[in-house]
Amino acid sequence: MCGIDGYAGKRKAAAILAQGLIDLAYRGYDSAGIATIEGPRIEIFKREGNNSPEELYKRVSGLTLAGTVGIGHNRWATHGAPSVRNAHPHLSQGKRVAVVHNGIIDNFKALRAELEHEENASFRSDTDSEVLAYLIERELNFGALSLEDAVHTALAHVEGAYAIGVICTDYPDQIVAARNSSDLIIGVGEGELFLTSDEAALPTEANLKAAMKDGDIVTLFQNGQFHIRGHSEEDKKRRLEKVCIMPGQSRLGNHAHFMLKEILEQPEALRNALRGRIDLAHETVRLGCFTPEVTRQFRTCDRVVIIGCGTSYYSGLAGKLYIERFARVPVDVALASEYHYSDPIFTGREVVLSISQSGTTADTLNAMRLAQKHGVLCLGITNRVGSTLAREDDGGVYLHAGPEKAVASTKAFTSQVAVLALIAMKIAQIHGQRIDHALLRGLDALPSQLELVLRHQEQIKALAARYKKAARFVCFGRGYAMPLALEGALKLTEIPYFDAHGYAGGELKHGPLALIERGVPAIAIVPKGPHQEKMISNVREVVARKGEVIALVTEGDQALNGIATEVIELPEAPEEFISILAVPVFQLLSYYLGLERECNVDRPRNLAKSVTVE
Ligand code: M6R
Repeated sequence: MCGIDGYAGKRKAAAILAQGLIDLAYRGYDSAGIATIEGPRIEIFKREGNNSPEELYKRVSGLTLAGTVGIGHNRWATHGAPSVRNAHPHLSQGKRVAVVHNGIIDNFKALRAELEHEENASFRSDTDSEVLAYLIERELNFGALSLEDAVHTALAHVEGAYAIGVICTDYPDQIVAARNSSDLIIGVGEGELFLTSDEAALPTEANLKAAMKDGDIVTLFQNGQFHIRGHSEEDKKRRLEKVCIMPGQSRLGNHAHFMLKEILEQPEALRNALRGRIDLAHETVRLGCFTPEVTRQFRTCDRVVIIGCGTSYYSGLAGKLYIERFARVPVDVALASEYHYSDPIFTGREVVLSISQSGTTADTLNAMRLAQKHGVLCLGITNRVGSTLAREDDGGVYLHAGPEKAVASTKAFTSQVAVLALIAMKIAQIHGQRIDHALLRGLDALPSQLELVLRHQEQIKALAARYKKAARFVCFGRGYAMPLALEGALKLTEIPYFDAHGYAGGELKHGPLALIERGVPAIAIVPKGPHQEKMISNVREVVARKGEVIALVTEGDQALNGIATEVIELPEAPEEFISILAVPVFQLLSYYLGLERECNVDRPRNLAKSVTVE
């Protein structure tokens, strides 16, 4: 949660920082603020509310601020309500130091009490972060320390997770940044430096980047040079990499919202996820992470464990079905946020797959670390190159879906499911099973078929207008369609704020049917295949109770005509994959319902894209 940025160079910092916060807004957006060094003072501007980064931009663009060094922050509240008072940057007691912070300072109460008692400190916010500014200033007051030394000494008192950016009036040409468990990246341009929580938010002027590591303290100088504490110039050069986000890739372009842009990007995203990984001629799957050692571990393992949160957990449920069907290896799927509590049993014969679009979800990282502590091989599936997950896993598969900025995960989900199908096929190969040619072709055809599904936009838009006032939504499917019904319900919950639930079709009669009454829309995934007859019975049960069914069926199938209120056709595909084609229907419906209900579709209330706190 929260996004940090910073600028040190020759240009005026304020507007650059505010633009950076707009690009980082998906990480948190309940308030935003920037601080720049203006002569002998630190000037701070803050705004509150969902559009705070944009409002901040408007405000500072109209001012004549000359400062060329500064820091910025988008907040997603943890300690203290969302308000201007709690927005970052936070000033120290003497107003010499300003700090932005992402993470949680576990011992802030003790530190606050100590500062109040010993330094007579009086705090201005309810946040845990503010103590950092006070601690750093206290170190500066003690003696002739550099800003870097003061940050270093102050952090020795701190327990918890952090990425911070610090400026100080005594050192007007510097930003000091530090990281422990929260991402922070330095962007390098011509004679200027940027600091950001996410590479995708770097401006086009940054052509090189250096990812900070846990424990790093880095000083960024206004002349474009930076220094990593305790590291040589050679180490620093080794860290520099090309920025791999294409200019414009993470901007809105002609689209009204990121969510719609990313839904429509799915065919391309899926093509990128599958590219070079399916060899139709040899009926095989190629995945670079299957080194001889990884292959050996999969050959001898007797269980795969998949961990993830939210949408990534639901893709894991689909992955379980693929791995068990294709490779006949048992799979457990665990919510990463619950993994520790289950006191998991490790036998030494399991392999873990951790799934996270962002690669920064604290729960998923912690679950993976727990398994690694027990010597378990953990492969990561992530969209973010160089993310914490990618750095800490024991190998992994990138989705290559391109930056996903809307809070609702869309293209990453379909790519995750496709990648899990690939992994399942690879494990099947390792276990000596032949992969059916029709299945490989079916997977390969999904990107083009998604294009066909996306043509239903107008039909789905009309449905949104019809059901915008529905009391609730019920989504259901059987077999491969079941996890996708759960994911569909999550989309309807987080974007248009519906009370929406996903169920296995067979479970309806065990409780959820009680939710059905006149006019309640139920979305049923009913492709041709082994479960079709039973699903049709479920649809009849809903209709008999006066519910209205939107049925997602195989193209040309008329079995539900005259029974369902609305039928949406999905292209013919193998039973294993056709339900993936249902996913954009839920996504588009959620998007248009969100618009109908005047919700902020890219930044739904109370949520953030990267959940870096437990
Ligand atoms: O980045 P991750 O995949 O680890 O994120 C996990 C969840 O926070 C995420 O999928 C969340 O549920 C989305 N908002 C769903 O659209």
